[in-house]
Amino acid sequence: MKSAQEFETEVLKSIKNIENLNDLDKLRVEYLGKKGKFSFLMQTLKTLEPDIRKQTGAAINTAKQNIEKLILAHKKSLESELLNQKLKNESIDVTLPGRGQIFGFQHPLTRVTKDITDYFQALGFSLAEGPEIEDDYHNFEALNIPKHHSARAMHDTFYINPTTLLRTHTSPVQIRTLKKQKPPIAIICPGKVYRCDSDQTHSPMFHQIEALYLAKKVTFADLKTLLIQFLKHFFQNDKLVLRFRPSYFPFTEPSAEVDIQWDTENNTTDIKWLEVLGCGMIHPNVLTQADIDPEQYQGFALGLGVERFAMLRYGLHDLRQFFENDIRFLAQFNA
Ligand code: DAH
Repeated sequence: MKSAQEFETEVLKSIKNIENLNDLDKLRVEYLGKKGKFSFLMQTLKTLEPDIRKQTGAAINTAKQNIEKLILAHKKSLESELLNQKLKNESIDVTLPGRGQIFGFQHPLTRVTKDITDYFQALGFSLAEGPEIEDDYHNFEALNIPKHHSARAMHDTFYINPTTLLRTHTSPVQIRTLKKQKPPIAIICPGKVYRCDSDQTHSPMFHQIEALYLAKKVTFADLKTLLIQFLKHFFQNDKLVLRFRPSYFPFTEPSAEVDIQWDTENNTTDIKWLEVLGCGMIHPNVLTQADIDPEQYQGFALGLGVERFAMLRYGLHDLRQFFENDIRFLAQFNA
């Protein structure tokens, strides 16, 4: 039978080779467990003389306590080793480069709209809006387009019912504003419009911007000056050549369409004229509809297509790309 001290020496030796908590616990059970070596030693105490029993018992207890301390110390060191290992494996290298962020940007149509409205707002025009679901009166009647007028045929209108429709242009905002405000009036009205039409250059929903200026002694020369300055600014071309071509709109008199000269290949023999907008002096019938005396006040109005301006600015040929929302296409204009 080995003594308590011998057991202690054994433990001291073997504990050095123990590398995990499981094996350490097995060692503990082997020596200190209920059926372990020490509990067996205690049982042998009964057989000893009282004097020796006392001494041996004390020696057993000391050895037992030493072993307990050894095991506890080793347990702590194994645990801290484990923790260090874990921290090492899970550490974050804060010096690694970041993943980067994708920044949002404005849709090219939003951008073009903003450029145009900003220009007019800087001149003192204020923003005005109207409903997309419009009535026949504001979209046609009050704009001097009575029922059965041939101009209605050009509008390919989406009707909701015989008197309600999706507005086909932003011109009804003219009427709504003229009825609400007192002259002088200067408004710029961007918005969505709808026509039953779809191909490379037409979409059933598209965007227009309408401008209206009403005051005393306004002439066509004012309109012309404004448009020349505006178009040169928008196309960033001080030498831009434009022409005012006589045209017809029921709500303006006289009316004109504005073309700009476009020589894509810098080839002066192949000059192209591109139509960019419609305009004119507000028709007296439109003013009287809104109880404004045409003898006292005159004004001009103009309407343009945002998609057309964007296509010219960015050199695009298919307007449908604006609405497909392919991020690779849209991101090109993020400059
Ligand atoms: N509303 C016209 C259209 O959609 C555009 C237009 C032309 C607006 C002449 C105007 C204007 O204000 O004076 O075709």
